[in-house]
Amino acid sequence: MADLTGIPARAPLKSAIARDFGAASKTYNPAARLQRYMGQVMVDWLQEQAPRSQAGADWQLLDLGCGTGWFTGQLAGLAARSGGTVTGADLSPGMLEYARAAGAPGIRWLVADAEALPLDDNSLDVVFSNLMIQWCSHSAAVLAECRRVLRPGGQLFISTLLDGTLEELRDAWHQADPEHEHVNRFDREAAFRRQAREVLPAPVITTESIVLDYPSPLALLAELKAIGAGFKGSSRRRKATAPGRLRAMCHHYPKADDGLVYATYRAAWLTCQLPD
Ligand SMILES: C[S@@+](CC[C@H](N)C(=O)[O-])C[C@H]1O[C@@H](n2cnc3c(N)ncnc32)[C@H](O)[C@@H]1O
Repeated sequence: MADLTGIPARAPLKSAIARDFGAASKTYNPAARLQRYMGQVMVDWLQEQAPRSQAGADWQLLDLGCGTGWFTGQLAGLAARSGGTVTGADLSPGMLEYARAAGAPGIRWLVADAEALPLDDNSLDVVFSNLMIQWCSHSAAVLAECRRVLRPGGQLFISTLLDGTLEELRDAWHQADPEHEHVNRFDREAAFRRQAREVLPAPVITTESIVLDYPSPLALLAELKAIGAGFKGSSRRRKATAPGRLRAMCHHYPKADDGLVYATYRAAWLTCQLPD
């Protein structure tokens, strides 16, 4: 299904997102190898590029969709050295509870929806958001909120996954159970680029195909479950998938000569600096 703009309607259920990520808070960190890699790229850029982090003034940084707070803690370490304050915000109260308990003192925690941030206009210097925006109904709404809350000269660092992500799993499920969706939808690259250009001044987007290996398709499903990233579309089956369908999906999943299975993630990073 597509809306009038041609952008696929992902229509994820926010209540399911908040619940599933909360339930995964204790298993998330050890399973989050893709998330770790993609977020670290942005932490490195932030260290190199964010002039305000060197400025020593009272600067404000938001980790939007902070999850367990892994990167919030790193950002707080950076901020502490230069007079900054960090807020970790997430839709999931369960994730925030974990993050607060594990996090350093001095970090502010906020239950918030990235599509309607409870923050003032022009109130932040940096928004950092790792692998959150693909869970939102409308990427453009999140980008507009980030622009609204950033001060002149403020910087935005966002990572996401685009169409093509988990294509092997999607194809295998399509052959095993063609009537039902089993894999979350992702923005098409052209649509994501267009939305970014419409909302932000001179956004820079870089992409990379990341391929991760797994001992089996079931191990891939287990990793997705451990990080709370199972399928959440409104068309998902109400009952648990029958073992026969699961076996059929595993049968159709391509296997490599080395005995492993591979999953493709179409990664994208967006950076942008607002004019002064
Ligand atoms: C894949 S996790 C990434 C967590 C963290 N950024 C990291 O790198 O480990 C996605 C997070 O986004 C949060 N999230 C999803 N939709 C959201 C929304 N609309 N507003 C705020 N947070 C959201 C989820 O609750 C989850 O904690």
